Amino acid sequence: MGATLANLTGAGTERPRRPLRDSWLVSELERRGVSRREFLGFCGTMATAFALPKVFGSRIAEAVARAEKPILVWLEFQDCCGNTESFLRASRPTVADVVLDTLSVDYHETIMAAAGHQAEEILKKTAKDKRGTYLAIVEGSIPTGENGAYCTIGGRSALDLARDVCGGAAATIAMGTCAAFGGIPAAAPNPTGALGVADAVPGLKNLVNLSACPANAENITALVVYYLTFKSLPPLDSLRRPLFAYGKSIHDNCERRAHFDAGQYVETWGDEAHRTGYCLYKMGCKGPVTFQNCPNVRWNEGTNWPIGCGHPCIGCAEPDFWDKMTPFYQHLPSVPGFGMGSRVDRVGLLATAGVAAAFGAHGALSILKNMREKRPAPKGLEEPVQNTAEKPNEEPRP
Ligand code: SF4
Ligand code: F3S
Repeated sequence: MGATLANLTGAGTERPRRPLRDSWLVSELERRGVSRREFLGFCGTMATAFALPKVFGSRIAEAVARAEKPILVWLEFQDCCGNTESFLRASRPTVADVVLDTLSVDYHETIMAAAGHQAEEILKKTAKDKRGTYLAIVEGSIPTGENGAYCTIGGRSALDLARDVCGGAAATIAMGTCAAFGGIPAAAPNPTGALGVADAVPGLKNLVNLSACPANAENITALVVYYLTFKSLPPLDSLRRPLFAYGKSIHDNCERRAHFDAGQYVETWGDEAHRTGYCLYKMGCKGPVTFQNCPNVRWNEGTNWPIGCGHPCIGCAEPDFWDKMTPFYQHLPSVPGFGMGSRVDRVGLLATAGVAAAFGAHGALSILKNMREKRPAPKGLEEPVQNTAEKPNEEPRP
């Protein structure tokens, strides 16, 4: 971080600077009626997201405004287009700011005007002429079965395209859990041999995973701002996810955490505890073993998020969530940190601080490790405890 902070403090940047008003971004923002104040406010929010003092917001604004307009190539493979949908609903900056102003989207099958051979020519030309300078975003998993025949575009397999385009990119962003870890297409029995980008194109440099189903538009926006500001990728966790977005568990920041600590749980969909907003642990919540900033950034312009709506977290940001986090409505096997046999019912009897510390530091992490390494759970934690609550036959009411 020290070297990258130099970008903001100005150290080592003695080159003469263009006046800010000459920036393409500032001109575009003005043209679209986005005030300088709003832009600075947005950059202040970014500074906070990166755990920098808010005063760095103005420096981020300057760095972003002076950055070259980055070229973006967006590849879509085995996916549902959910990440594109999420991206198009980005509100800070607006979709127009992001797609048309902040980034030069040379290739994106869903939103580009070109089609057919014309589109494929653009992709080839960008990958060749702009090698080493563009950003590649991959949405969807990459099938490797039958020599990649399950997903071909313009006669080329997804695997071939990913190797070529991502191999020549300045940085690659695997958008969503399918691109990051294989996601739903890779769920057992994985008929297409689907892989995430890191596994399909091993050795890829500058790869960052933005997992979740779909990835949160706020996080892709923040990642782009970070890249424009620092000219590098942010610090990543062991799964190549930005720590600013995946550094804490859902459970750490959950608005229902006080109820967990107090032993107050929803027992049945729609019961008084559910309507009151009690903890969803017993209803299958995987927040304790899932890492993402959903409680803070939320969704749809910060309107709400799964747990805020009364539904448990299903762990969509974690590898193999479709296999390892199911059944979604059965709770985690026990409360780690209280002995292997401890059940959630005992938690409320124990000290709040002890629960928080032991759960966060020990048990949840060991379960997560097992999930990630596809190892069997420790003795006593093999099988999820059957949820004693009624099985829902409809979506839970908020
Ligand atoms: Fe929130 Fe789920 Fe943790 Fe309960 S178990 S506090 S609902 S994250
Ligand atoms: Fe996914 Fe859980 Fe967030 S289901 S969207 S990681 S609250």
